Amino acid sequence: MVTELRVPGDKSISHRALLLAALAGGESRIRGILTGEDPQATASILRELGVRVPPLVADGELRVTGVGVRGMRTPRRTLDCANSGTTARLMLGVLAGQKLEATLTGDDSLRRRPMRRVTDPLSRMGARFDPVAAPGRLPLRVTGGPLRALDYRLPVASAQLKSALLLAGVTGGVPVRLVEPGFSRDHTERMLAAAGCALTSSPEGRGNRVQLTASPSALDPVDVVVPGDFSSAAFPLALALLGGAGEGIVLRGVGLNPTRTGLLPVLERMNARIEVDMRSAPERGEPAGDLIIHPSDLTGTEVRPGEIPGLIDEVPVLAVLAARVRGTTRITGAEELRVKESDRLGALAANLSPLGVEVEELPDGLVIEGTDRPLSGPVEAYGDHRIAMAFGVLGALPGNDITVDAPAAVDVSYPGFWEMLERVSTPAARPSARGAGPEVAAHARPVRGRGPVIVIDGPAGSGKSTTAREVARRLGFRHLDSGALYRALTYALLESGRPPDSWPALTESDLNAHPVRMTAAGSAFRIMLGARTLTTELRSPEVDAHVSAVARLPAVRGWLLDRQRQAGREGSLVGDGRDLGTVVFPEAEVKIFLVAGVEERARRRLLQTGRAPDSESEVTAEAARLRERDRIDATRGIAPLKKGADGTHPPFEEQVDAILREVRARVGGRDSEVPNSGP
Ligand code: S3P
Repeated sequence: MVTELRVPGDKSISHRALLLAALAGGESRIRGILTGEDPQATASILRELGVRVPPLVADGELRVTGVGVRGMRTPRRTLDCANSGTTARLMLGVLAGQKLEATLTGDDSLRRRPMRRVTDPLSRMGARFDPVAAPGRLPLRVTGGPLRALDYRLPVASAQLKSALLLAGVTGGVPVRLVEPGFSRDHTERMLAAAGCALTSSPEGRGNRVQLTASPSALDPVDVVVPGDFSSAAFPLALALLGGAGEGIVLRGVGLNPTRTGLLPVLERMNARIEVDMRSAPERGEPAGDLIIHPSDLTGTEVRPGEIPGLIDEVPVLAVLAARVRGTTRITGAEELRVKESDRLGALAANLSPLGVEVEELPDGLVIEGTDRPLSGPVEAYGDHRIAMAFGVLGALPGNDITVDAPAAVDVSYPGFWEMLERVSTPAARPSARGAGPEVAAHARPVRGRGPVIVIDGPAGSGKSTTAREVARRLGFRHLDSGALYRALTYALLESGRPPDSWPALTESDLNAHPVRMTAAGSAFRIMLGARTLTTELRSPEVDAHVSAVARLPAVRGWLLDRQRQAGREGSLVGDGRDLGTVVFPEAEVKIFLVAGVEERARRRLLQTGRAPDSESEVTAEAARLRERDRIDATRGIAPLKKGADGTHPPFEEQVDAILREVRARVGGRDSEVPNSGP
């Protein structure tokens, strides 16, 4: 069977559409934008700078009213680019021409990446950049203002650098003449021309001359249809070529800008059977079309330095592909990969080798020997989305068994990547999402490429939640806070205006009508109601007053089950709560049961209600109530509570350490009991 697939919107085009819409003099329209974490960072920075950017939506249209090229306001906060190099560099260019001061920062990975390549030429134009910590690195304090024209030869072929300088030309209202040593992606040039700038581009030597000769004081609004991201498409494409997706895949609506598709001629040399169908291409805007991928008998090849800019983001997937073909693949001229979201050459070599692939790391590339031996073991993604996805593909191939340590990293550019992989890699065995046996559907087949699910159970007051949160933090996993879901539903019900005394009659489909979702966001889950993220609302006195009634509603069980299982699909999760190990995730790789002395639990429970116990007799009374509850729990038919031994109370840290040891020893193992004492 051939599977059809659409990949999320192009990341580079999404950033640029937002930025140009912000600099325009009217309302721009953007369809198909990527809702991943990188464009989210650009959108929230623009909001800080006074641009009204609605929540990003992939389906439907986003309308943004621009503030003109120099209309941004001084931000009240530090601008956080998160993991996004494109946000940081393009924003440095945009800010250079604004009469304001702002500080830009990013996550650990971004704070290690070089910024001087951008700030040096921008300083020549007249902007000022003061490093807050290390020279040439974020955080940087930017002082923008009037700029001078620039005539500049780029030291590297980099679209981020080129775009930053062109955008500074636009916000400064000055000409910019650039020569770059290769052909990096040209989305900025295309979009600026469409927005009314006078811009030319022509080959020069082995590279490219780009000149911005004039730009308007407010750009024309843009009307962008963002195509599927070729760089994201490369992952299912590689899977299908290697025979890991049945009889093949059709990828619909993929961006096919020639500065992005340098992987295709390389794959052609490797014997790949790929058809490109541009019949459905849009009449204007970026080129796009369908890719039809057939399983192919691939051989190794040589990738030359001049080819790198056209496939810069595809080297990780190409490297894992090379590990599975006949013969040797040699990639050189790719030193730029050392300063991406991770040192990608280092990360690829360090992971491929222990899996059983022969690989040589060169200063500027990799030499990879293909093998058909089964590959198994853990992979460290270094928080890099493309490393995580490349090894996800390798792990999804029949015979391989690979676990990626940080699956959440994919949210940067490909939300839903693991679900896609599961769907595409096993079309025949695909479990139905609902219907017969939904209880086992989510775990009908282990998801390759994901980390383990760890569940922490225990009696009320045993410190489940605090412990789970800390274990998740230490492992870099996500913490599933089921309580927040109950609270979000309570908030939605209150907001709907339906009187609380009518709630007990609600059915599961009534509850599903409230758009409460939990979406993976880095190391946590974001709780959303429609397009809104719920945070402090979840702790309001009204929610406090009604949440336990909501938790008791019969329909809530099924509603919650669905959402919890969705949260568990990507793995690398620590959840706490009743029934999590028995009903929600019966196949969780590790199940921990916390036990604590009943008096200690009683004390904690009283503290949880917000008041310090007045007397020992209050503690004793609460302890008696807990004993009674344990007795009932232990004798109930479904998921009876296993009673642990009261007794030892190691300090909290030791307890977390003990759990981490258990996790390491038992990934794929059975239940365990860890004595508990709370913080
Ligand atoms: C990007 C350019 C590329 C690429 C990155 C996105 C862009 O970096 O690696 O993921 O949107 O401009 P270069 O600056 O090396 O071209």
